[in-house]
Amino acid sequence: MANKEEERGFLRGLQTYGDRDFSIYMRRAFARSMGYSGDELARPVVGIAFTHSRFNPCHRHFPELLEAVKRGVTAAGGLALEFPTISLHESTLAPNSMKFRNLMAMDTEEMIRAQPMDAVVLMGGCDKTVPAQLMGAASAGKPAIQLIGGPQMTSRYKDDRVGACTDCRKFWTQFRAGNLGKAEIEAVEGRLVTTAGTCAVMGTASTMAAIAEALGMTLPGTAAIPAVHADRLRAAEATGTRAVALAKSDLTPDKIITAGAVENAARVLLALGGSTNGVIHLAAIAGRAGVKLDLERLNELSDTTPVLVAVKPVGTEFYMEDFFAAGGIGAVLRELKPLLNLDCMTITGETLGQRLSAEEGAYVDRRVIKPASTPLEPQGGLVALFGSLAPDGAIIKRSAATPALFEKTGRAIVFSSLDDLGARIDDPTLDVTADDFLILQNAGPRSTAAMPEAGFLPIPRKLLEAGVKDMVRISDARMSGTAYGTIVLHVAPEAAAGGPLALVRTGDRIRLSVKERRLDLLVDEAELARRRSGSTRGAEVPLRGYDKLFRQSVLQAPDGCDFDFLRRQP
Ligand code: FES
Repeated sequence: MANKEEERGFLRGLQTYGDRDFSIYMRRAFARSMGYSGDELARPVVGIAFTHSRFNPCHRHFPELLEAVKRGVTAAGGLALEFPTISLHESTLAPNSMKFRNLMAMDTEEMIRAQPMDAVVLMGGCDKTVPAQLMGAASAGKPAIQLIGGPQMTSRYKDDRVGACTDCRKFWTQFRAGNLGKAEIEAVEGRLVTTAGTCAVMGTASTMAAIAEALGMTLPGTAAIPAVHADRLRAAEATGTRAVALAKSDLTPDKIITAGAVENAARVLLALGGSTNGVIHLAAIAGRAGVKLDLERLNELSDTTPVLVAVKPVGTEFYMEDFFAAGGIGAVLRELKPLLNLDCMTITGETLGQRLSAEEGAYVDRRVIKPASTPLEPQGGLVALFGSLAPDGAIIKRSAATPALFEKTGRAIVFSSLDDLGARIDDPTLDVTADDFLILQNAGPRSTAAMPEAGFLPIPRKLLEAGVKDMVRISDARMSGTAYGTIVLHVAPEAAAGGPLALVRTGDRIRLSVKERRLDLLVDEAELARRRSGSTRGAEVPLRGYDKLFRQSVLQAPDGCDFDFLRRQP
């Protein structure tokens, strides 16, 4: 048996040659080839999950950030060893990045566990990377600290201040409606993303950064620092320094990602009016810690959590750089303090309550972050709906929707797939009015589309040209955190898993009531039974590799779309 000292640092987790001393000798021999001295190899080892990739524009500044992390590790007496993992970007993955979040989580988990490191710094930013890293680290069971890449800065297009990607959608809608020409939309394309970092609004990436800080997995005050700000480099260095202390501790993620911390993160998600994707990712992270994010409980939290942050797409003026300057997540947490579980441990070794007490009186820009006494909205931005169309739940982001459409019964206009949607949505002969509900089937996690961000169904061109700005849209898909509209998402069970969504036909009546938290298909049970018995599933395409693993193992949205075999049993 190796003694305690040998089980740490670079001699952790030796290969099983059947001769322990030979294993040590071999590992040292190869380490020497990298030029490390015996002194360096005896230090606590901090692994750095490095997700730089030329396919990931949001992480283009990570090499500079890595140097700062390593500086912090070295100064604190550790040995910094970066290692590559999968990196995921929203616009460069087909069919969509969500399909690969679990693959990245598995990669991260296994490399943390298998390689000889005492603690790990997780460098993430773009939408799926932070949840994948937190999921993996929670399962790997070694001390871990998240370093966020940070949001982009805004740019200009003529008189408009612009940033990805709420503005991407605004300009595209104008182009579709014929109010913007081809030359103009091409010029806009060159102005939307002009610095390194993640989308400049409170989209999924910024929401997940906030959730990571609310969980206690980042250094305080670091979630919202812009990617190109010097404070981002200082945060990276401090994260490296803290990782060395973690390497000597037993402060593993399961001691931080507790039921209380998950509720704190859900409160922050609601107070931001954050991305609907945040519900899925938080459920998945919590699931790795054996905690269930219950949608009924989410509604209870939503009823008692005010919306405080006026950053796009909830507000119309401010971006993430304004949110950072306004006080960031710390200011939001202080407003929510009476609602939070303050005894939760954080990565610094302090409780959340101790952190917030130390920050009392810090500056807050009230144009961007409202006081709890006079919030933007008295209740949370996200609501779970249940009913005969969504027995296991669905999500609507009411803070980015049109209140006039909240209590409404409408006629269903059904699209059976993304291909069907693309083929017919702009057909001038499509029988559709602004009072109808657009329904998209077969875009959930088990569908061939693998739950894309397609829930923001385009408004039919002829209605757009007539000035229609919003209508009710319902699907089992997801929606970008930067999108807006009266959009019901994540309907569960999904159509491809035999949920009631698969039984909806054009002309059916559907009732939406945000007040009652209901989503009902107004078709009698005898007719639904007839449709059910008459439905035929298309022939299954033979699958192999990750496609097969994904289709066989992916869970529904309320369980975070994690793989069934990766969740920890509560
Ligand atoms: Fe990376 Fe938006 S595409 S955060």
